[in-house]
Amino acid sequence: MIHKKLVNFPENFLWGAASAAYQVEGAWDEDGKGPSNWDAYVRIPGTTFKGTNGDVAVDHYHRYKEDVALMAQMGLKAYRFSIAWTRIYPEGSGEVNEAGLKFYDDLINELIKNNVEPIITLYHWDLPQALQEAYGGWESRKIIEDFSNYCVTLFKRFGDRVKYWVSLNEQNIFIMHGYLSGAHPPKVMDCKRMYQANHIASLANAKVIQYFRKVVPNGKIGPSFAYSPAYASSSKPEDVLAYENAEELNSFWWMDVYAWGEYPKAVWNYLEREGLAPTIEDGDRELLKAGIPDFMGVNYYRTTTYEINSLAGVGAGQMNTTGKKGSTPDTGIPGLFKTIRNPNLEATDWDWEIDPIGLRIALRRITCRYRLPILISENGLGAFDTLEEGDVVNDDYRIEFIRRHLEECKKAITDGVDLLGYCVWSFTDLLSWLNGYQKRYGFVYVNRDEESEKDMRRIKKQSYYWYKKVIETNGKEL
Ligand code: NOJ
Repeated sequence: MIHKKLVNFPENFLWGAASAAYQVEGAWDEDGKGPSNWDAYVRIPGTTFKGTNGDVAVDHYHRYKEDVALMAQMGLKAYRFSIAWTRIYPEGSGEVNEAGLKFYDDLINELIKNNVEPIITLYHWDLPQALQEAYGGWESRKIIEDFSNYCVTLFKRFGDRVKYWVSLNEQNIFIMHGYLSGAHPPKVMDCKRMYQANHIASLANAKVIQYFRKVVPNGKIGPSFAYSPAYASSSKPEDVLAYENAEELNSFWWMDVYAWGEYPKAVWNYLEREGLAPTIEDGDRELLKAGIPDFMGVNYYRTTTYEINSLAGVGAGQMNTTGKKGSTPDTGIPGLFKTIRNPNLEATDWDWEIDPIGLRIALRRITCRYRLPILISENGLGAFDTLEEGDVVNDDYRIEFIRRHLEECKKAITDGVDLLGYCVWSFTDLLSWLNGYQKRYGFVYVNRDEESEKDMRRIKKQSYYWYKKVIETNGKEL
């Protein structure tokens, strides 16, 4: 659809930015915090880029007031951050750590004082290591109770001040990397275990939504799904079918469960035949159907293009964690699909296709299939930034990236998408899990790198000033 006139962003639109505890906080063992699976994982040699870890990260734990002040100066309307489970329950369950609750209490109050709406993510990948060791974390149904208990503690403590909540962040990513590629903790490479752990995570997600309704009746909750819409490489029906396979296996497998409490049919049958489908126990289906979210959170970075893959075709491959452009091999599942570079799109240095229209397609597909409001809980550009003389960072490429994505949001709103907000990943630079500190996303440059913590001073990039203007004009000036 080419619209003659575009509808503007709604008045109460959540112009936001996001982060995650492990990636920004540091203070990994302070004030009673217990170790998480990531605290343990990064200590295994060879797991992360140049051996980086989040022990100090960008020291947000100690500098949160300075960071919130920068948000306030920008006029930011919403800040999405995650809570480290191990600050609240150092062992995952048992006795609550008041110092951990206090940190987030202070952060929330500071945000509210500065007119920034807090959006809490309950789980952004940092599982208590104690639960990993006690019963295998997401592989045991025991986690449903422990996760619920932790979440209810947060609902009770912060539910009076926090309206928007994200349940699981990128369940598809932490489960696939944790249990299939082995690139994340607990470093398992087993497809059967992956689908089982995923099912348990879905049950936990539904359960906390059920509790949320009771404890925070006026709040809004939803998961954040890492959605990379699938394209067919050509109009050849075989390629279109490959795209359908990919969309169902990589996306509907999660989103159908969130929105409908049901697994998609063709992939379910395929996994059952392969002996990979999860075990469904009595009451599971009912629970999934009882935990429907208020909105779909979407983390959008890219689209992926697929073509037919024979039964003898390519399988799993490696991620690009170095920033060496063009180093990602094609991957696939024999008999289902394989990825192919889209010749119509430019890519980032980490080989992520840049596709603003793909965001509109994502929003349209979700709206068409699920009719849920959408929160863009992440979108942004990971790039090498250069700190120039006089503390200047000219990230015009980031401005261009976000501007083009926002234009597509406007078109999607005109299409009829109910868009609640847009959170740029990320507010400050941060630790990019496996990619160290060189892959920068922030509006605010943090002066540190893999080799040295330096002074970690905060420096506003050009994109900071640009986004400030966007917020001031409510997106009329992009
Ligand atoms: C998604 C994840 O939620 C976030 O933690 C990560 O750093 C960004 N994507 C960028 O890769």
